[in-house]
Amino acid sequence: MTTHTPPTSPRHIAIIMDGNGRWAQKQHMPRTVGHAKGAAGVKALVQHCTKLGIQCLTLFAFSTENWSRPADEVSILMNLFVQYLEKEMGALAATGVRLKVIGDVAGFAPALQSRIRAAELATQNNQTIILAVAANYGGQWDVVQAVKNWQTANPGADLHSLTQAHLAQHLSTADMPDLDLLIRTGGEQRISNFLLWQAAYAELYFTDVLWPEFGESELNKALHWYATRERRFGKVPQQRKEIA
Ligand code: FPP
Repeated sequence: MTTHTPPTSPRHIAIIMDGNGRWAQKQHMPRTVGHAKGAAGVKALVQHCTKLGIQCLTLFAFSTENWSRPADEVSILMNLFVQYLEKEMGALAATGVRLKVIGDVAGFAPALQSRIRAAELATQNNQTIILAVAANYGGQWDVVQAVKNWQTANPGADLHSLTQAHLAQHLSTADMPDLDLLIRTGGEQRISNFLLWQAAYAELYFTDVLWPEFGESELNKALHWYATRERRFGKVPQQRKEIA
C-alpha cells in the first residue's frame, strides 16, 4: 500500500455511480428503472477496465446512508445486486474477475450474505482485475472497523503503538493497490463518505454525465484527464525541487 503508480495509468479506479434517478426522470420513468439501467452497464465497464490493464475497480453500489431511501427503492437496489451476482458473475469470473464486497455485509439479509460469500469464494483465485463492490459501505465505518480489527488482531496492544501503516492493513481495501482515481458521475462534487482514507492522494474527477450514460468513451475521457495530472503526493514539483 505504500508504492505509488506512474501518473499515466491508474491501477485502482473507484466510481461513485450517481445520477440514476435523474436519468430515469428524464425518460419519464420511475427512479428504479435508472438503477436497473445503471447496473446493466457495469459489466461492459469492468470488461473495458480489464482490457486496459486496470488492476482494481471499486464501485459504490449502496452506502450506509442509502437505507433511508424509500423501502421499495432499497429493495430494488438489493434485488439488482443479487441479480447481478447471479447473472453476470459467471461471465465476469470467466474473464478473470475477482469479486470483493466491501462494507458491513452483516447488515444484509442472510440469503444475500451467502450469495456474496459464494461469489467471492468462486472468484478468489482470479487475477485479471479486482471488482470491489462497496455495499452498505461508509468511509467512516471503514476506519472504525479497521481500528476494531487491529485491536482484535493485537489483543492487549497499546493503542499508542497503532500507526497509519497498521491501520491501512485492516481497512476493507487492504489487499488492493492505492486508490489513484476517484470518479463521480451525476454533477455533484463531493465524496459522500466513500473511500475517505483511501482517497487521501487520489485524483478526483467529476463529470455531469449521469451514471447510466457513463460508458467506455466517458471512462476514456477520465483516463486522458488523469494522464495529464501531475501527482505530487505532498511533495514539491520536480522543477521547483531542482531550483531550491
Ligand atoms: C445513485 O443514483 C446510485 C445509487 C444509490 C445506486 C447505484 C447502484 C447501481 C448502479 C446498481 C447496483 C450495482 C451493481 C454493482 C450491480 P441516485 O439514485 O442518487 O441518482 P439521483 O442523484 O439522480 O437521484
